[in-house]
Amino acid sequence: MNGITLALSKGRIFEETLPLLAAAGITPTDNPETSRKLIIGTNRPDVRLVIVRATDTPTYVQYGAADMGIAGKDTLIEHGGAGLYQPLDLNIAKCRLCVAVRKDFDYAAAVKRGARIRVATKYVKAAREHFAAKGMHVDLIKLYGSMELAPLVGLADAIVDLVSTGNTLKANNLIEVEDIMPISSRLVVNQASLKLKRELIQPVLEAFAGAIKP
Ligand code: PRP
Repeated sequence: MNGITLALSKGRIFEETLPLLAAAGITPTDNPETSRKLIIGTNRPDVRLVIVRATDTPTYVQYGAADMGIAGKDTLIEHGGAGLYQPLDLNIAKCRLCVAVRKDFDYAAAVKRGARIRVATKYVKAAREHFAAKGMHVDLIKLYGSMELAPLVGLADAIVDLVSTGNTLKANNLIEVEDIMPISSRLVVNQASLKLKRELIQPVLEAFAGAIKP
């Protein structure tokens, strides 16, 4: 494609990217929440959007199937970031990565006595690094969603998951015991695209940078 392709995921990232796109003079012609289309045009003939799973955004950009994308820091850590230029923290889709347990599980005591605990998570890499830095031995169990269920049915002692309002933890009688890191979404750019399509990408990058809210 001669123009540029931007990879986005549905939901919070798409919604919170709309004002940034507007600042760059870009308006999508369809809404992915209501349309089943995976390639969405914009008011600009040289800019199109592709709608992908959040965890797949770095992969599309890494291989150049999309020139740019917007991905959460959580997703970027798990992907590893190979082939990606990460020029901007857009400060959108903010939340935090946490360790949570059942209310009746004494996490502090388990840590103190050096217990080997089972941790369920979608964020295996971030979790492994976190517990290794604490010198804790954990058995990680990879899940793809609904992590909050794992401690309730005995699959794990703890979870590592994203927390935004805290409502999901509360509704499932879980409590946050450790804050691992703040999360927000970043603009990622394919390194070859940045060189070959700089005249198209640079103005978008500058418009996004100027529209970032603190
Ligand atoms: C995320 C996360 C929690 C929830 C936290 O899930 O995994 O389950 O949001 O939000 P809260 O603190 O405001 O309740 P999401 O809805 O993105 O779905 P997922 O489990 O498929 O990742």
